[in-house]
Amino acid sequence: MNVLIIGSGGREHALAWKLRQSEYAERIYVAPGNAGTAQVATNIDIATTDFEVLAKFADDYDIMMVVVGQEAALVAGIHDYFKKLEYLRHVLVVGPCKDGAQLEGSKDFSKQFMQKFNIPTARYATFTEATYTEAISYLQDHRYPVVLKADGLAAGKGVVIAQNFEEASDQLNGMLHLRRFGEAGSKVVIEEFLDGIEVSVFILTDGKEYVLLPEAKDYKRIGEADTGLNTGGMGAISPVPFADAIFMQKVEERIIKPTLQGLQTDKISYTGFLFIGLIKVNDEPYVIEYNVRLGDPETEAILPRIKTDLFELFRALHDGELSRFKLDIDPRTAATIMLVAGGYPGDFEKGDVISGLDEPGDVLAFHAGTAQNEKGQIMSNGGRVMALTALGDTLPEALVKATAAAEKITWRNRYYRKDIGFDLK
Ligand code: AMP
Ligand code: GLY
Repeated sequence: MNVLIIGSGGREHALAWKLRQSEYAERIYVAPGNAGTAQVATNIDIATTDFEVLAKFADDYDIMMVVVGQEAALVAGIHDYFKKLEYLRHVLVVGPCKDGAQLEGSKDFSKQFMQKFNIPTARYATFTEATYTEAISYLQDHRYPVVLKADGLAAGKGVVIAQNFEEASDQLNGMLHLRRFGEAGSKVVIEEFLDGIEVSVFILTDGKEYVLLPEAKDYKRIGEADTGLNTGGMGAISPVPFADAIFMQKVEERIIKPTLQGLQTDKISYTGFLFIGLIKVNDEPYVIEYNVRLGDPETEAILPRIKTDLFELFRALHDGELSRFKLDIDPRTAATIMLVAGGYPGDFEKGDVISGLDEPGDVLAFHAGTAQNEKGQIMSNGGRVMALTALGDTLPEALVKATAAAEKITWRNRYYRKDIGFDLK
């Protein structure tokens, strides 16, 4: 069977790497991919939201399965587009239709959904430019810190934690009036700040049955000890020791099952991964956000722990057999360290040749922002450049291996956090 993966990050390299190991996968294509996906699959130069060209490609190249890595294509309706074409109806698309993708595409939609189905989450209210004055008085009466979220997709940058009223009202003005996040900020969710520790939980679901994947913790801030600006993610650890059996049972009973029930009640079809961003407050799980795809860099930490053939898992999704499906999970700990370009998440340079890739050590080197130059050398081509994953019997062992590789693989101004997993040791 031929597979098409949509995206170009470390997540998509990990997906391609994992699917390559399946005897059922014949040709694997990645649109648009990176220098790493080119090593395990064939890159095709089509943008992730150019559905017309993607559909023609799928038809011409006999694609049977489309795995959508990133959210923009899902929120823009790639699954709906494929479904509406008679000649592509047989294609299994891993990723929800537009209606399900709203769980990530609109914070207001996902908060309403959680409220309607009693799924534990922070208290909130939503405002627009027309209700700006109400928003200001809401902020005047609110406890601090408070969280402001642009409603739409903002590449992980649309969330601001404001420490006081001045900061909050300035951000509100920036979002609603100055359109700091463009149209994504035309609605703003204002919510209660939850103080706790975060964990990313993943399921694969057909909207009724589901398989729970390994959980992970990601490290979003650029600076050590979780300081500085938010990034797409600087590293990940899986498993997460505090997400023990008791906690995960609460997650399944109070969050996962009511979420699936809610999707059914509201007649929202859903086929794909659901990523539930949770925060643990006094041993209780609360939902921070839903994402309708796998996390990046969490994928680079969790896929190496899944021993099961991913293709078979996707087939079970297609055949409605997920509840009978048993995942075989490697009990070892995976530590993923992201190598980034100096200056990221602000301005950074691209085009630097990366050295040390020939003998990276005992790690999996998943490429994120990389490309090949005309001499065939691998060079940096984005802010987050490469995710290095090591497995170890213990977290410190995994970290030692990942860090040794992070020291070796380098280029001008490359940076990485040396304290990934610091709060789990
Ligand atoms: P989101 O894009 O909704 O995942 O938010 C990005 C990050 O902001 C989260 O990973 C949290 O670290 C933080 N955050 C979001 N909502 C809250 C909240 N209600 N309380 C505390 N932190 C939050
Ligand atoms: N690592 C967080 C995300 O993928 O959204």
